[in-house]
Parts: sequence; C-alpha cells; structure tokens
Amino acid sequence: MPDQTAVQTPITQAHIDFYRENGFVQVDNMITSPELAELREYLEEAMQSDGERAVRTDKQGGLYYRVLNQKVNLWRDHAGLGRYTAHPRFAESARLLTGAAGMRLFHDHGLWKMPGDSKATPWHQDTPYWPVNEANPGMMSLWLTLDDVDERNGCMAFVPKSNRLGKLKGIDLASPQNIFDYVEGGQTDAHKPVVVPLKAGSCTFHDGLTFHYAHANATDRPRRVLAIIYAPDGVTYSGDPHVVTDGAGLEKDRPIAGPRFPLLARKS
Ligand code: SIN
Ligand code: NI
Repeated sequence: MPDQTAVQTPITQAHIDFYRENGFVQVDNMITSPELAELREYLEEAMQSDGERAVRTDKQGGLYYRVLNQKVNLWRDHAGLGRYTAHPRFAESARLLTGAAGMRLFHDHGLWKMPGDSKATPWHQDTPYWPVNEANPGMMSLWLTLDDVDERNGCMAFVPKSNRLGKLKGIDLASPQNIFDYVEGGQTDAHKPVVVPLKAGSCTFHDGLTFHYAHANATDRPRRVLAIIYAPDGVTYSGDPHVVTDGAGLEKDRPIAGPRFPLLARKS
C-alpha cells in the first residue's frame, strides 16, 4: 500500500466555522503565483478553443452571454485545466468545509463576465438548477478568480445564513425574478448582503442554497473565473434534464457516481 499523505489545504478551523455558520467563506491565496500564471493560460485556451465535450451556454450577443460567458465541463476537453479541476487541494478544502466523508466533482465551468454591456448575475441559489433529489444536498461551489475583483468588475456578494431558508424557485438568470419576493418579509436587514472583493488566486466557497450575486463588469477587460461544483458522495440523481448529466449513464434515484463524476477527496 502506498503511504497516504494527508492533502495540504489552506483551510483553518476558522474557515470551517464561518462556512458552517454563514453558508459561504472567503479563502485567500488558494493558488500560488506560478499556478495562477499557468491556470490563466489554460483557462484562456479552454474558453477560446472549440473542443467536443465542453458546452457553451450562450453565444456572443445573447441575453445570457451579457450576464456570463460560460463554458461547462472544460476539464473534458483540456487536460491541463482538468488538473486544476480535479486538484486534491481544492476538493479536500471543499470536503473539510462541508464535513462530507467524500467529495465528487459535479462539473467545472469557466465564468467570464465580459466587458461592454455587462449585466449583473442576479441574486439566486444554485441548488434549484441541479438534478438531484435532496432539497439540501450539501453541494457547493469553489469560485476561483484569476483577476483581482471588486464591485467594478464582477465580484460576488452573499447573504449570510440564507442557505437556511431552504430550496426556493430557480431564477431566470437572463430575465430575473426577485429572489427576495420568495422570502417572508422580503429584503429586510435580516438578509443584508456581504460584498467580497478578492485578489487574483483567491476564492470563495458557497453552499448551493446560499443567495449570491455578482456585480456587472464595468471595466474594459473580462473577469475570468474558474468555478468548480462539488457533490458530497451519495447525493442522488433526480433524472431531471441537465447539461452535465444528460447522457452520462446515471440511474434515476441512484447516487451520482462514475467516471464523469469522480470522487476527488475522501476522509482518510
Ligand atoms: C458569477 O460568476 O457571476 C456568478 C457565479 C455563480 O452564480 O456561482
Ligand atoms: Ni450561482
């Protein structure tokens, strides 16, 4: 048996406590400067090339493109990028924050907020879009920025503890409803957002039920983000349509598993 060396992560007990209390957390310096340079190169290649497996969700000029230039499952076309998507440091960080016994990849995606006629990413939860049976699956996203971000170019904001409000309706991201209309009392002080500017190479993690938003990009350069979505081992497939599970050989009501959804971190 090879030695099982513990995976090193930047996650502290303070990060874990904050995430479990608030449904999101900021983690600085998730990657080193050389990694940042390499990942920028890989992400540029993956976003700009046309492979066979990754999927663009809208074309330039589209309504959704103004919110996000998004490409899903980059790892399936770009092995170098895939090394980051499957990185044990990231997956183990996700596992530690949630306390899951094992963490699987659900998908990665490039999330670029393009300059020129940019729209904010409206307040939403992620869980309603995912084809899983559990109302609170513990699925979550790592949002790793390759550019410094603040309110001028698309940094994120979160409503602390909003993950406790349960799974609400999915928002149409291109033509949005107001998520706060679904919450008793509306947008009160109890749902005050926290804006999270970040340096390039830093990240946030957020639970799929946490309300989040990203500002429009008013600068003249793209805001480049790699996001990775993780599912705790055991979360079950609902059979609902979704770009990453359609045709992936999953069985309805059975745990999400198999080569497209690899187990990337497990409790030692
Ligand atoms: C964004 O990057 O603008 C939004 C990310 C998310 O919804 O998770
Ligand atoms: Ni989201």
